[in-house]
Amino acid sequence: MTKNKKQNIALIGLGCVGSGFYALQEKNDAIDVKYIVVKDKTKKRNAPAELIRFEYDSVLADADIEVIVELIDDAEVALDIARKALNAGKDVVSANKKMIANHLPELLDLAKQKGRIFRFEAAVCGSIPILQTLNNYLNGLAIESVSGILNGSSNYILSKMHKESLSFDSALQLAQTLGFAETDPTLDIGGFDAASKLRILSAFAFGRALKAEEVIQAGITGVEYRDLHYARQRQLRLKSLAFANPTGLAYVLPAFVKAEHASYGVEQEYNIAVVESDELGTQSFVGKGAGSIPTGKAVLEDVIAVARGEAYQIQLKEEPNDLKGEIEIYFRFPSALPPEIEFVEQKEVFRSTLVNYVVGIVSTASLRKASEYLQKPGYFLAVFPESLQVDEPEISVESRVLSL
Ligand SMILES: NC(=O)c1ccc[n+]([C@@H]2O[C@H](COP(=O)([O-])OP(=O)(O)OC[C@H]3O[C@@H](n4cnc5c(N)ncnc54)[C@H](OP(=O)(O)O)[C@@H]3O)[C@@H](O)[C@H]2O)c1
Repeated sequence: MTKNKKQNIALIGLGCVGSGFYALQEKNDAIDVKYIVVKDKTKKRNAPAELIRFEYDSVLADADIEVIVELIDDAEVALDIARKALNAGKDVVSANKKMIANHLPELLDLAKQKGRIFRFEAAVCGSIPILQTLNNYLNGLAIESVSGILNGSSNYILSKMHKESLSFDSALQLAQTLGFAETDPTLDIGGFDAASKLRILSAFAFGRALKAEEVIQAGITGVEYRDLHYARQRQLRLKSLAFANPTGLAYVLPAFVKAEHASYGVEQEYNIAVVESDELGTQSFVGKGAGSIPTGKAVLEDVIAVARGEAYQIQLKEEPNDLKGEIEIYFRFPSALPPEIEFVEQKEVFRSTLVNYVVGIVSTASLRKASEYLQKPGYFLAVFPESLQVDEPEISVESRVLSL
C-alpha cells in the first residue's frame, strides 16, 4: 500500500466480533470499509445500508478490495472465503480458530505463494496479543511450553461453581444469559474451542501445527461438587487448562492448580496465556478472551499490521509426536477402575458408596485413555499440571529461525 492511501476493506460478518471491529475502525482514518457482507436480510444493522451485501463472491472479485476481514461463524464458509480471497491476491484477516487450526499449513502456504498476508490474532485469546508476541518478541527463544486458560466460558463456569457453589447447570445457564457461552455450548465446555487455540499456539511456539487428534482433550461437563470439594480441602483451584510442549504433547483437560500456578487467580471470563522459555522463564499474559470490543481490537491491529506489510514469520515442520511422559491425575469413577488406565504409582485411593477416586501417576498414554472416560456419567479426571515429567528433546533454536 502506498503512503497516505486508505486501505480498502471488505468486512464479511457483522456479528459480535464484526460489530466490534466496525465500531473501532470508524476512528481510524487509514481504513475504508467498502462492503459489509452478512447473511440475514431481515436484521437491523449498525452500519450504513449502502455498504451491506448478501453474497461474498462479487465482493471478492472487486479489484479495489485489498483486505478481506472474515468474521463469520461458519468454519467451512470461512475457509472458502479465505482460499478465494488469497487466490484473488487479497490479504486476509480472520478470527475463525476452528478453520485456522484445521487448515493452517495450507493457508500459510497459499498466502506465501501469492505474496499475501494472512493474520488471525483474534482467533486465540481475544484481546491478548499472544500470536504477535510469539511471532515477534519471543521469536528465536527456546520455548519449553505454552499453556493457559484459553476458553472464557469454561473458566466463568468453574469460577462460579467454586466461588458461589453454583451447580454446573446453573453456572452454564448464567454464562449463556450473560453472553459468555454459546446457545450450543459444546465447543466451549467440551474443550474443542481451547484445543483449536492450543493447536495454533503450538504452531507459533514450536512450528508444530498439531492435528485435532493429537490433543488429549476433555471438557468440564463431568465436574461435580465433590471434585471442587477435593480441591478446596487442599487449597487447589480447578481450571480447564491447555498445555503444549515441543515434543508434541498437548492437552486440554481439567486441572487442579496450586496457588503458585500462573492461572490460579484467573477468574470469570478471563483468559491467560503462559509461555515458559529457557531464557526468560515464565511469562504470563492475562486479558479478555472474548467479546465484541476485545476481539474487534485484535482484528483492527491485524488490519493495521497488514498495512505495514507484516506477515507472520512462522516456519512449520512435520515431526512425529514423541509422547513419552508421566503426570499425576485425580480420577473419579462410579464403581470399578477401568483396567486400561494403568497407574505407575497410586498415591491416594478413596472408596465409598458415593464416590471412588484414585490419585496417582499415569503415563501420557494412560492419560489419553482416561480422558475418553470423561464423556461417560460418573467419571471425572483432573491433572496436576506441575507434576508433568517429559523426556524433553533438545530444542534447536535454528529450527525456529524464521523463513517467510
Ligand atoms: N464472539 C467472540 O467473542 C469471539 C472471540 C474470538 C473469536 N471469535 C470467532 O470470530 C468469528 C465470528 O464470531 P462472532 O461471535 O462474531 O459470530 P456471530 O456473532 O454469530 O456473527 C456471525 C456473523 O457472520 C455472518 N455470517 C454467517 N454466515 C455467513 C455467510 N455465509 N455469509 C455472510 N455472512 C455470514 C452473520 O450474518 P447475520 O448477521 O446476517 O446473521 C453474522 O453477522 C467466529 O469464527 C468465532 O469463532 C469469536
